[in-house]
Amino acid sequence: MSAATEQRPDPDGGKVRRPDPFAAPKGIPEYLPPESAGFTHVRDTLAGAAERAGYGHIELPVFEETGLYARGVGESTDVVSKEMYTFADRGDRSVTLRPEGTAGVVRSVIEHNLDKQGLPVKLRYAGPFFRYERPQAGRYRQLQQVGVEAIGADDPALDAEVIAVADEGFKALGLTGYRLEITSLGDAECRPAYRELLQQFLAGLDLDEATRERAAINPLRVLDDKRPEVRAAMADAPLLIDYLSEASAEHHRAVLEHLDDLGVAYTPNPRMVRGLDYYTKTTFEFVHDGLGAQSGIGGGGRYDGLMATLGGPELSGVGFGIGVDRTVMACAAEGLTPWSTARVEVFGVPLGDTARRRLVVIAAALRARGVRVDLSYGGRGLKGAMKTADRSGARFALVLGERDLESGTVGLKDLLSGEQRAVGLDGAVDEVIASLQA
Ligand code: HAM
Repeated sequence: MSAATEQRPDPDGGKVRRPDPFAAPKGIPEYLPPESAGFTHVRDTLAGAAERAGYGHIELPVFEETGLYARGVGESTDVVSKEMYTFADRGDRSVTLRPEGTAGVVRSVIEHNLDKQGLPVKLRYAGPFFRYERPQAGRYRQLQQVGVEAIGADDPALDAEVIAVADEGFKALGLTGYRLEITSLGDAECRPAYRELLQQFLAGLDLDEATRERAAINPLRVLDDKRPEVRAAMADAPLLIDYLSEASAEHHRAVLEHLDDLGVAYTPNPRMVRGLDYYTKTTFEFVHDGLGAQSGIGGGGRYDGLMATLGGPELSGVGFGIGVDRTVMACAAEGLTPWSTARVEVFGVPLGDTARRRLVVIAAALRARGVRVDLSYGGRGLKGAMKTADRSGARFALVLGERDLESGTVGLKDLLSGEQRAVGLDGAVDEVIASLQA
């Protein structure tokens, strides 16, 4: 009986009923070994692409003052109005578990004057974010992102770099079944006039009350409505891409040109609407075809007004957030497992106390040389220990019994071929390393 299932003795003699076990909160994926190897591989591969382009790691607070998101992400967005985990802390300050990373990065850049150290400021981050959404496959209340933000250069080459970094991350994982959708959401010069035009168009339609309300708050969101009747009614709606200011149009043309140069394929989607209010000009989404309804594996764009909105200098910004959970799902959908689920490379099987003392030392020596090693614990017999060795994913087992000790050797068993040979105990560390490299 394991410790977890053991019933604690009652001092009065009877058996104590075990309390009901806890369950993790709803809508939160957990990554357990051996599959968690896929999660860390995806996260680190995506972050690696950003690191190679000079994005320094930033570790952000997991919660911030609520006002940061209300002002930064926008009160009218679903994220802020419906999905935030907001609570009063013990000092009665309203705080919110971060629903996204951009506002926090911008706050940090302003607070620590990072823009004084040269522009653009290039940062990357990875970790959990929290949105109180209705859980379903690919939509979680704790979601994991790898993101980048580049602040302080209004240069189309930088937009293209950000996009190319995300694309390179996906490619490095071996993904092929995704596409990049891109558009421009214009700037402060062209957006207000377009908004008015769209509102006039919407006023002429016979829309239901809820849609009318959405249109009043943010008319652009109606463009993205998935219902067939609304889609049909919106078929002739004016599109922002046709009403861009000269500066935004030129910026967009240059971004696409850079993407062409880089060989990054894209699909224009002039109806794209993102769920966050800060976007200007370049806006993009990576969509994977194998994921069903929650197909966005990453998204981002420019946010040229956000630094100023949050009280900082007038500096532009561009970035992305990639959903690690969904990217793991995309790898599964494409049958990709470019990671090893082996916990260790070598597994030690001691038979008896003297053998254990010796193998503990050999394991430590192997670990010091960079080899991943585990041992059988709890005085298990040969059969049980060999089963654990197989399950660990190890390539080799080191089996040490009384007779081996007497002859100064240890059994080195290849768990792939099943072959076993005796190697000298003193040279065992070098032997194992040579065998792993063979
Ligand atoms: P977002 O589009 O809200 O953008 O999120 C980015 C990615 O996070 C999505 O494409 C999706 O893969 C993943 N994601 C979002 N919500 C969930 C969820 N509930 N469950 C699972 N995955 C989810 C942002 O957050 C922006 N901060 C990105 C950005 C950075 N824009 C500029 N810089």
